[in-house]
Amino acid sequence: MNRTDAFVEPAATHAAAHESEASIGVSLPHESAALHVSGEATYTDDVPELQGTLHAALGLSRHAHARIVSMDLDAVRNAPGVIAVLTAEDIPGENNCGPVLHDDPILAVEEVLYLGQPVFAVIAESHELARRAAALAKSDDVIRYEPLEAILTPAEAKARQQFVLPPLHLKRGEPAAKIAAAPNRISGTFEVGGQEQFYLEGQIAYAVPKEMDGMLVYSSTQHPSEMQQVVAHMLDWPAHNVVCECRRMGGGFGGKESQSALFACVASLAAKRLRRPVKLRADRDDDFMITGKRHDAIYEYEAGFDDSGRILGARVEIALRAGYSADLSGAVATRAVCHFDNAYYLSDVDIVALCCKTNTQSNTAFRGFGGPQGALVMEVMLDSIARQLNCDPLDVRLANYYGIGERDTTPYGQRVEDNIIAPLTDELLGTSDYRARRTAIAAFNANSPVLKRGLAFSPVKFGISFNVPFLNQAGALVHVYKDGSVLVNHGGTEMGQGLNTKVAQVVANQFGLPLSRVRVTATDTSKIANTSATAASTGSDLNGKAAEAAARTIRERLAELAARQLGGSAGDAQFANGQVSVNGGAMPFEQLVGAAYLARVQLWSDGFYTTPKVHWDAKTLTGHPFYYFAYGAAVSEVVIDTLTGEWKLVRADVLHDAGQSINPAIDIGQVEGGFIQGMGWLTTEELWWNCDGRLMTHAPSTYKIPAVSDTPAAFHVQLYQNHNAEPTVFRSKAVGEPPLLLPFSVFLAIRDAIAAAVPDAREAPPLRAPATPEAILDALDALQPQRAPQPATEPATTDTAA
Ligand code: MTE
Ligand code: HPA
Ligand code: MOS
Repeated sequence: MNRTDAFVEPAATHAAAHESEASIGVSLPHESAALHVSGEATYTDDVPELQGTLHAALGLSRHAHARIVSMDLDAVRNAPGVIAVLTAEDIPGENNCGPVLHDDPILAVEEVLYLGQPVFAVIAESHELARRAAALAKSDDVIRYEPLEAILTPAEAKARQQFVLPPLHLKRGEPAAKIAAAPNRISGTFEVGGQEQFYLEGQIAYAVPKEMDGMLVYSSTQHPSEMQQVVAHMLDWPAHNVVCECRRMGGGFGGKESQSALFACVASLAAKRLRRPVKLRADRDDDFMITGKRHDAIYEYEAGFDDSGRILGARVEIALRAGYSADLSGAVATRAVCHFDNAYYLSDVDIVALCCKTNTQSNTAFRGFGGPQGALVMEVMLDSIARQLNCDPLDVRLANYYGIGERDTTPYGQRVEDNIIAPLTDELLGTSDYRARRTAIAAFNANSPVLKRGLAFSPVKFGISFNVPFLNQAGALVHVYKDGSVLVNHGGTEMGQGLNTKVAQVVANQFGLPLSRVRVTATDTSKIANTSATAASTGSDLNGKAAEAAARTIRERLAELAARQLGGSAGDAQFANGQVSVNGGAMPFEQLVGAAYLARVQLWSDGFYTTPKVHWDAKTLTGHPFYYFAYGAAVSEVVIDTLTGEWKLVRADVLHDAGQSINPAIDIGQVEGGFIQGMGWLTTEELWWNCDGRLMTHAPSTYKIPAVSDTPAAFHVQLYQNHNAEPTVFRSKAVGEPPLLLPFSVFLAIRDAIAAAVPDAREAPPLRAPATPEAILDALDALQPQRAPQPATEPATTDTAA
């Protein structure tokens, strides 16, 4: 059976999925799985190079903040294999690749604002020769600088009130009065580090000049339309001169939402100037040095609460490191403000978010987009409240959950209408055996002086939609060829998350065809115009609906023809198992398509979708920014070594709400990947800039992302049986980002283990994130000062190591 109605009843859909070969709700492999594992999947660097292709590399600033006194690029021009050296002066149009404000020069002019900022581009015969010549940027003879004072931390920027955008402030009720009157109070500070996206495929663009001032840009980007636009502005061309294409990315994770632009611009500038194809592929170290990351944050918080731990009033200031320019920081900070509540009702609350301007990389989107930075501090606060009350943090969490029909309005004014966090929590507490394990862990800790175990539960409520309402739109184009094969194009981009597979499933389902009959092509700005980034986890919600609409239009035309040929009414036509049936007769899909062609029926269509209900007032920070919420929860158990600070995740149980999943295998993959990636952020991944503002952790040697061996031996990931309360595509829910918040439970379990090591400590463990072994030892030492290493009696010698 196949469904024609947009408003699909969940149970019926589920049954339909299993009957139909098109298999909505079935764990079909990723459409490129075989290509991924065989190495045949083509990424931007695999596009066959045209004859005459040149290679670009970037000359980077050596200072965090300096005036460029003079540039003498002759040595670079004369280096072996160099064809040209380009600077900002060579840009015919706008020297900007910033997505919102125009504060992001493609190549620096007069002043450099961070160490690693591109100042010039070298174009050479080979990648290697271009890199060698670009490295001359390190010489004083090439660029002379007058160093200026650099602001290197959010704390310094905050002290000087130096922001890239005005502060955001959301206040509801009378938080100060409620905190003052509360029977109990906590206050404190917290900090969390940033995170490098570490997509396996680095930033890359390959620009091919075309006739009549045309440019084809192959770009590894989440946002082809934006690449088209910035390249056109830079060249002072209309947008229709530029086509941007992306077949797939080897990961984006937000890092290619805006920051693929610099690479697309430089490759295109060079291709335009030299009338030759030019490729710019950033080396991993350069990628680290040039591009922005997840915003690190420092917090000040305060809360008043009753004896059950229920919050009566709360206040937080979230100071995010924006870096040298605005990039997407405004929307990131807004999402942070809108996720401070996480799954909890806050009647009286004051939230401030600051976008601190520092002389470091311009921070950008990263899975969760500020949401994790907003919610983490709330979870830390609840943990501290529980420790002050000497009760299980789980119970404090439960006491603060959003209610149903009461206590259900977020600080920004949106009601939480689809709340399933309580039953989801109940189920997870049961399957994870939380209460019994809490007792067993206490018993273990009582008998284990060095190794301590910790256990923690944390929930997620994540708002789905771009928090800039107009971005919630998408288009698709479906072609049915005469032989009955189907080609789908949509505005979303594939970065490994399985978007193309889900969209193909949706289209195959419309036509009652197996997935093998549907092919999804590369994303291409000449096919779908004015697309939004594939971001905010909305890829399949938006593009799935647009493709469904396009396919439905064709299907309705086909149904009419079938009814003309077989009798009966078009509305009764069924598309299933490769057959179209109506009025007791049936024919193969391709036979009907062939007949439709001869009957001059249009066999292709576009489709368009906009998300209903969303609106937002950026001045008051109130509205209905999210179409719906996705939920999840996790229980994590760790063991720490209190002598070395080493730790291990022993077991993690995850229950996540993907609505009625279109493809459970892909969704579980997203949950697992998001969990491990979030765990890396909170534990092992540490960005460290030296006192000159040089990022010292710019390669896997010093920046430690989780490996497969960091996956816990017991990793139980389940999808919660649910369907979206809103009529999304097959009642599914977005799943890309929300799971990144699940490993808060890992961080909190480490805190729990530290607390167990110092049972009589009166304060909660002052553990910073990432919880590296050093941070864990620092927290233990702070709770138990006699543990801390005593100062050496002899001054330590410094000349041995180096
Ligand atoms: N999964 C993989 N494998 N690679 C990625 O780059 N990016 C994440 C998430 N999952 C990412 C991923 C981010 S940041 C987002 S916003 C969503 O996927 C985007 O895709 P979707 O909207 O189709 O879920
Ligand atoms: N997520 C990702 N990108 C965005 C968003 C968002 O919520 N809003 C604007 N750009
Ligand atoms: Mo995802 S951070 O919205 O690209």
